[in-house]
Amino acid sequence: MKRIGFLGCGKIGQALLKHIKELDGVDVAFVQDPVYTKAAGDTFPVVTKGDKDLYATADLIIECANASVLKEWGVTMLQATDVLTFSVTAFSDPSFWDTMVQCKQTSGHHLYIPHGAILGLDGIFDGRAMWTAIKIVTTKSPKSLGRTDTERTVLYDGPTRKACELFPRNVNVHASVALAGIGFDRTESVIIVDPAVETNAHHIYLDSDSTHMELIISSVAKGAVSGAYTPQSACGSLDRVLQHTRDVLFV
Ligand SMILES: NC(=O)c1ccc[n+]([C@@H]2O[C@H](COP(=O)([O-])OP(=O)(O)OC[C@H]3O[C@@H](n4cnc5c(N)ncnc54)[C@H](O)[C@@H]3O)[C@@H](O)[C@H]2O)c1
Repeated sequence: MKRIGFLGCGKIGQALLKHIKELDGVDVAFVQDPVYTKAAGDTFPVVTKGDKDLYATADLIIECANASVLKEWGVTMLQATDVLTFSVTAFSDPSFWDTMVQCKQTSGHHLYIPHGAILGLDGIFDGRAMWTAIKIVTTKSPKSLGRTDTERTVLYDGPTRKACELFPRNVNVHASVALAGIGFDRTESVIIVDPAVETNAHHIYLDSDSTHMELIISSVAKGAVSGAYTPQSACGSLDRVLQHTRDVLFV
């Protein structure tokens, strides 16, 4: 029996909880979330604070809260068990990233970064030695950025590290691409607010001396931080971590 803990259990977490109920040999160890209310049949503990003993009851903890919560509990979790984390902008803080890498090495536990809202992080990682430039242009509605702009405006154009500091809830895609590719300082982030759009769109440009690739991801998020695809992809990532590989395994 594999036991999964949750740090944060909103849109992504609840999709994963539902998915786990359909899997054989997988159970929920705990949910840590100040607002989660138990549903009928929930037998696991729901807590507002964690500690190493609680975390050690899980084979894997899935963080789907936010970057500051990940920074608060990340080291304690990784000392205790494997961690899969969605709030990737937290890793733009170099001291937090270094501490987590060191903790991963001393504990022997794994740190998993899911592909989340986009496709192809594994392929970006495979090409990391060859990329000469990576740029991500994100266009969102004022509502999804918590703003009231009345005209299209470029809010930011510069290194991904600073974009993560300015928009921690909105640029997890940028952070994941930076980590998989050429890092937070060499990846360029452009953030555009546009009242004419109802979608959240990411346009990713990857360049090397010999290759050019583009990925376009566009989704209706209705003002929420996560679109409809991310909870689906989260379930696939969990399956791959657990090696519940269905019929065909895409690697
Ligand atoms: N990597 C990606 O591609 C990607 C894509 C979408 C979302 N995300 C990120 O994933 C995270 C979760 O997204 P979501 O849509 O499920 O968000 P959500 O707002 O629906 O859920 C977040 C949950 O975290 C809980 N929370 C808040 N403070 C907490 C604390 N101190 N301790 C424990 N739990 C706490 C909230 O109560 C809520 O239930 C966010 O950081 C989001 O930005 C990443």
